[in-house]
Amino acid sequence: MLFTLARSKNQLLLRLASKGMCLLVGLSASMAFAQFVSGPGAIEPSQLRSGLTFASEAIAALQKDDDLNPAFLWVEQGQKSWQQNHSNSNDSCESCHKDASTSMKGVTLKYPRFDDASHQLVNLEAQINRCRVQHQHLSPLKYESDELLGLTALINLASRGMEMKKTLTPNLIDPLKRGQARFETRRGQINLACMHCHTQNYGNHLGGETLSQGQPVGYPAYRLEWQKMGSLHRRLRACLSGVKAAIYPFGSQELMELELYLGFRAQGLVIEAPEVRR
Ligand code: HEC
Ligand code: HEC
Repeated sequence: MLFTLARSKNQLLLRLASKGMCLLVGLSASMAFAQFVSGPGAIEPSQLRSGLTFASEAIAALQKDDDLNPAFLWVEQGQKSWQQNHSNSNDSCESCHKDASTSMKGVTLKYPRFDDASHQLVNLEAQINRCRVQHQHLSPLKYESDELLGLTALINLASRGMEMKKTLTPNLIDPLKRGQARFETRRGQINLACMHCHTQNYGNHLGGETLSQGQPVGYPAYRLEWQKMGSLHRRLRACLSGVKAAIYPFGSQELMELELYLGFRAQGLVIEAPEVRR
């Protein structure tokens, strides 16, 4: 009953918010969207914790030292890809964007964005591939390829230490609502929603793992179980598989909508990429 009440209150807030947005667009295109962090899947700002705070001491030690953090092997690869020329001697990412650590600072916070031309969400991986195709005339990189993971890690590293702040544009409202609904809806043979593990049970143990709040602030991350770096979508697919639910494809709009909601839900945390996980 409480749950139903919270939900309908939230839906009302969403409706009010979309109405309000239409009125407010002219006044403030960059209005912070507090309403979205008050649904049943949300976490009080004062209680927000990154995955690092749930990790074992050994893993935290790996993450805190860039020389030990295995994710930096991918960052190095990303740096090489960034500088690599292809069909001519001047078509590298660097030739247009210069030094990634400065030109890409803050970019993490802007993704996923909504692309009005294609009516689709574009996350960082998709944006990198857009540049590959449109500006370098190359084929898109595969999800989970070392090259795409490396470039994504390099770009997210440029925002490390920045506070997760999101800007709601009117065209993000619908995908954000869908992402929120996905987070709060029970699914799979195990019949659990994301929020049952990551909002209601963080800190508790599940198998050998300590459940975290499911925060997206450090992806792609190096996971010991994978013996390599993995994207946020790989992590989300592992969660869907864990509850024996249908697994959305890499780069799908469904996963991007979840990614978008996770970003809004994480507002106030600090970007920690690249993380190390169990
Ligand atoms: C049955 C419990 C369960 C459900 C349901 C679940 N997850 Fe997870 N999730 C885990 C476990 C276990 C981990 C690894 C340990 C941790 O960080 O919680 C994890 C990790 C994550 C992480 C990475 C956190 C980090 O700091 O590395 C994210 C993000 C995440 N989940 C999001 C989701 C989303 C979105 C959904 C719904 C589609 C979901 N999870 C559903 C159990 C669950
Ligand atoms: C010929 C120039 C050119 C090359 C080469 C190029 N880009 Fe871009 N990039 C752009 C332009 C122009 C934009 C602005 C948006 C657009 O038009 O797609 C952009 C946007 C971006 C953005 C989004 C920045 C933001 O603030 O939202 C990222 C990330 C990016 N590029 C990464 C890359 C990567 C990684 C490579 C190499 C694989 C690359 N780009 C190669 C021209 C280029």
